[in-house]
Amino acid sequence: MKTKPFSQQTAIVTGGATGIGRSFTEALADAGAQVVIASRRREVLEMAADQINRSIGAERVSTCAFDIRDNEQIEGLVSFVVERHRSIDILINNSGLAVPETVEEISDAGWEKVLQTNLRGVMQLCRAVLPHMMKEDFGDIVNISSQAGKHGYADVPSYCASKFGLLGYAEALRDHVRKTKANIRVFNFCPGLVDVENTDATTKPRPGFIHVSNLARTLIYALSLDRDVVLEDINLYAK
Ligand SMILES: NC(=O)c1ccc[n+]([C@@H]2O[C@H](COP(=O)([O-])OP(=O)(O)OC[C@H]3O[C@@H](n4cnc5c(N)ncnc54)[C@H](OP(=O)(O)O)[C@@H]3O)[C@@H](O)[C@H]2O)c1
Repeated sequence: MKTKPFSQQTAIVTGGATGIGRSFTEALADAGAQVVIASRRREVLEMAADQINRSIGAERVSTCAFDIRDNEQIEGLVSFVVERHRSIDILINNSGLAVPETVEEISDAGWEKVLQTNLRGVMQLCRAVLPHMMKEDFGDIVNISSQAGKHGYADVPSYCASKFGLLGYAEALRDHVRKTKANIRVFNFCPGLVDVENTDATTKPRPGFIHVSNLARTLIYALSLDRDVVLEDINLYAK
């Protein structure tokens, strides 16, 4: 089975400039991978890429502004990365948001925004990336679901539906790559509360939250397992 060191891999991290995504970007770039971070705010992307490249002393992080709710922009992101780097070895589906509306308050606009960002966009991005991974016979897809993908919470029903849905989609994707015998693994992270405000290595997370660096360390560990091993659902929460 084909293997590649991180130094020969290219990753797309959606939402890779902020919060959990940023910690994934830093860890992958630090491990030697090329990382394309992609989300809507161009200036946020560029600032994060500059800071990370400066801190590792190498130009490994590049940017591509896109809105995951727009299929043409998804296709544009995938073409940009393939033209520039030839392969897409790691796809981290991290972009996501919640609209806090109870089942009685739920609005069509809120529902659409959450479902399109957290679920439909991910399915479209996987559809666009998969042929490139199949062609190279190499790839890892990492979905950031949540504990809200395993338990229902009254304040965020549309978010729960999107994150449960993401896990269902990931199971189908995993079954597809197994049946096609592709060298592609599908991982899901289901974190509890992650402190994305106190992110410095020296700062303590708020009570009940975990430090974001735990996600980055777990990512590198999971991706470093043998190619025939997949750590399927990764539940991480404060004990
Ligand atoms: N923090 C937690 O406690 C926690 C727990 C469990 C799961 N999660 C999940 O972890 C992921 C990251 O969340 P986070 O806490 O790190 O929050 P965050 O910093 O707000 O990250 C969300 C990212 O998604 C991007 N994004 C939002 N809408 C987008 C769109 N339409 N197109 C492309 N990108 C879009 C945002 O960038 P732009 O606004 O620039 O587009 C942002 O970089 C999410 O999927 C979240 O559901 C978080």
